[in-house]
Formats: sequence, C-alpha cells, structure tokens
Amino acid sequence: MTATIAPARARHVAIIMDGNGRWAKRRHLPRVVGHQRGVEAVRKLVRATAALDLECLTLYAFSSENWKRPEDEVDDLMGLMRKFIRSDLPEFIEHGVRLHIIGDWRGLAPDIVAMLDDALRQTARGTRTLAVALNYGGQQEIARAASAAAAEGAITPEAIAAQLDTASLPPLDLLIRTSGEVRLSNFLLWQAAYAEMLFVDTLWPDFTPEHLAAALQDFATRERRYGGR
Ligand code: FPP
Repeated sequence: MTATIAPARARHVAIIMDGNGRWAKRRHLPRVVGHQRGVEAVRKLVRATAALDLECLTLYAFSSENWKRPEDEVDDLMGLMRKFIRSDLPEFIEHGVRLHIIGDWRGLAPDIVAMLDDALRQTARGTRTLAVALNYGGQQEIARAASAAAAEGAITPEAIAAQLDTASLPPLDLLIRTSGEVRLSNFLLWQAAYAEMLFVDTLWPDFTPEHLAAALQDFATRERRYGGR
C-alpha cells in the first residue's frame, strides 16, 4: 500500500512577508514606505483569495522578535496595522473574510487589542480566513500549547496541536517566504512539519496575486508523502 497523497489544491497558505526594507532602500525611500507598499500587497492578495479558492491565508505581520527594531519602525508598523483594520474591516465583512489572530496579540497596545477584538467579532461568520500573526513566535506558541496540554493531561502531539493558535485552521499546506531569505524565523514551526516550502526572490511589496497563483500551481505538482513512500 502506498501512503502517497495525490497532488491537491492548497487550503492553507502562510507567508513570511520579507523585503519591505530592501524594496524601499533600492528606491532611496524611507523604510516606512516599503511597509506601506507591503500593506498594499496584503490588500491585493486578500482580495484575490476568493478567485484563487483559498480557504485560509496566514500572514506573518509582526514577530515576537520585531520589538527589537527601532522604536519609530515599531510605531510605524503598529500604525499601519491600526489603519489597515480600520480601512479594510468593512470589505472583510462584505466579502466573507473571517479574521483570525495568532500570537500573543493581547500584549499589544490596548486600543489595538480592542480594535482586533471588535474585528474578530464582526467577521466571525466569514467563510474564508485571513489569519494575521501578531507578536507571534513559533517557539512561544508551542511552549504555551504544551503547558495548556499538560494542564489537561498528557503531552501528546495531538494534545499540543489542539492548543495551538491555529487549532481552528486547516492544516498548513504551503509556506512561502519572499525576498530570497531561506529560513523560518520562528514562524509556524509546529505547523510546518509537513508543509511544502517555497522561497521566492520577489520582495514583498512586489508580490502579486499572480505570484500566489503561480505558487498554488507549483504546489499542485508536488507529491506529498508525509513520511510514507
Ligand atoms: C519584513 O520586511 C516585513 C515585516 C517585518 C513586516 C511585515 C508587515 C507588513 C507587510 C505590513 C503590515 C501588515 C499588515 C497585515 C497590515 P523587512 O522590513 O524585514 O525587510 P528587509 O529585510 O528588506 O529589511
């Protein structure tokens, strides 16, 4: 018997959106402009998920380690997050996009937490998911999940998985990183166990729905064995 699973449509794609700074630097623009253009790329991609028939898109917006960046850049990123939620929430509601947040997001500024709480409530009935990783670290997530599993009984892979921030999402199929860097940077470490990986040179602000469509086509050609043969 073979454990090979036939190539399938990806349900859940996650992206490490890297290269905003280099995009700006190449144009002699301030870094914040790279991040602004990065948000534009996010917006276009979220709009395209329906046509691409993608159930869940998870984006690494702010890592637990991003606090180490200069204060003004952290402020810029938080400001962009506020603006993005405020401006795009009506569109999410109208188009059935369910917002989901992963990471230690309750540790963010109180006004952002309130805004996110409200957005989660208002989008709860959406049929496709935009999961945003905020104040997120994969090791921290696994540690939290393992503690929660231990509090309930045995620490098994299944018990940990059930406590992860992604427990309500489909299994991760494809993880993409832009900008030519080839590492996971503490993103979805547990969930990536059997995910396909795609590293592309495109800088994040230049990443378009066409790039995602190409990535999904590439995914459909891969043979996933999950350790079988
Ligand atoms: C990496 O580029 C990008 C980030 C640390 C932040 C990603 C955030 C956004 C695209 C905007 C906010 C997102 C949402 C969902 C509103 P970098 O600055 O590390 O680029 P570099 O490696 O070229 O310097």
